[in-house]
Amino acid sequence: MSLLKQDFEWLHAHPELSYEEYETTQYIRSRLTEAGVEILPYPLETGLVAQVQGNAEGPVVALRADIDALLVKEESGVPYASCNAGKMHACGHDFHTAVLLDAARKLQAKKDSLPGTVRLIFQPGEERSDGALKILATPAMQDVQAVFALHTAPWFPVGTIGVRNGAASASVDRFEITVKGQGCHAASPEKGTDPIVAAAAIVSAAQTIVSRNVSPVHPALVSITHLEAGTTWNVIPESAYLEGTVRTHFAADREMIPQRLEAIAKGIAAGYGATAEFTWHAGPPATDNDPEWTAFAAEVAREQGITVEEDPANMLGEDFSWFQQKAPGVYIHAGVGLTKPLHNPGFTVDEASLEPAAGYSAALAQAALEKLAK
Ligand code: NI
Repeated sequence: MSLLKQDFEWLHAHPELSYEEYETTQYIRSRLTEAGVEILPYPLETGLVAQVQGNAEGPVVALRADIDALLVKEESGVPYASCNAGKMHACGHDFHTAVLLDAARKLQAKKDSLPGTVRLIFQPGEERSDGALKILATPAMQDVQAVFALHTAPWFPVGTIGVRNGAASASVDRFEITVKGQGCHAASPEKGTDPIVAAAAIVSAAQTIVSRNVSPVHPALVSITHLEAGTTWNVIPESAYLEGTVRTHFAADREMIPQRLEAIAKGIAAGYGATAEFTWHAGPPATDNDPEWTAFAAEVAREQGITVEEDPANMLGEDFSWFQQKAPGVYIHAGVGLTKPLHNPGFTVDEASLEPAAGYSAALAQAALEKLAK
């Protein structure tokens, strides 16, 4: 069995949750050490950054893989299924990690012909949407001129990649609203202020932001996913709690929506004689694929005999977007066979997709260096 397959199967069998990727990091470290790849001495608790340096004076490009798994009970039926109860690589980060390890070996083998440095970023905590910030707290991206990441795509067959200009994933923000009324007996509502009717009106009105305030040609959504109030049937409670997420592709929408949400929550609450507190928790922005590098990544893929498709738009999140704020780059979807969706307990990767993805990653990094070195 190839080293690449061995790595993939080992990683798949040993999934670890965000910021608990100790065994995974140790595995990556030992595989890179065996291959003679330089590991950079950054103070990361989990995850690591390595590099293959050809011409030290040349440009620097980065390849990024995320390494964490999910709290999903595996039902894929593969012989190398998860040994860690209740945890699973259901988003293919085992694939990303194995592919980057193999790309590292391939690049190390041709080190002397590289006109610059390829930085290899093994990022923790992507599923928590902020692991990228751990890497960005190190000097890993300081001198990087282009950055690339692959993500598994169970909507493309093996040998196909998908790219799109601009947003290939959405911004991921969270909000909380607490409506404060005045509790009283359910039988004498006139003696209090019911926060539940106000909260219900806020839920309905929040949906008008996308339909009335966002351009109909801009992808955006507001989902209220958590609503809690009261403890029993004959008491009007003091407060109601709402929580949800906002996803957008355009920065201006991302700025406008929380302002509208806050105005709606406060205005409606006031109309009902209650008050509302609004809290916004900003997550990663939308990915922003640079058009020039996207065309370049597609061209390199075609040279490798890979089919290139336009990636369908989605509203999922991906904290690779933080890297794209430091250097232009491309977030690329790699076909792993038409299997169950991402995060599903039956998600699998067709192992035939490993080798083309590793070959492509190494070729892309080398071609990017050559382009920059010109
Ligand atoms: Ni993922």
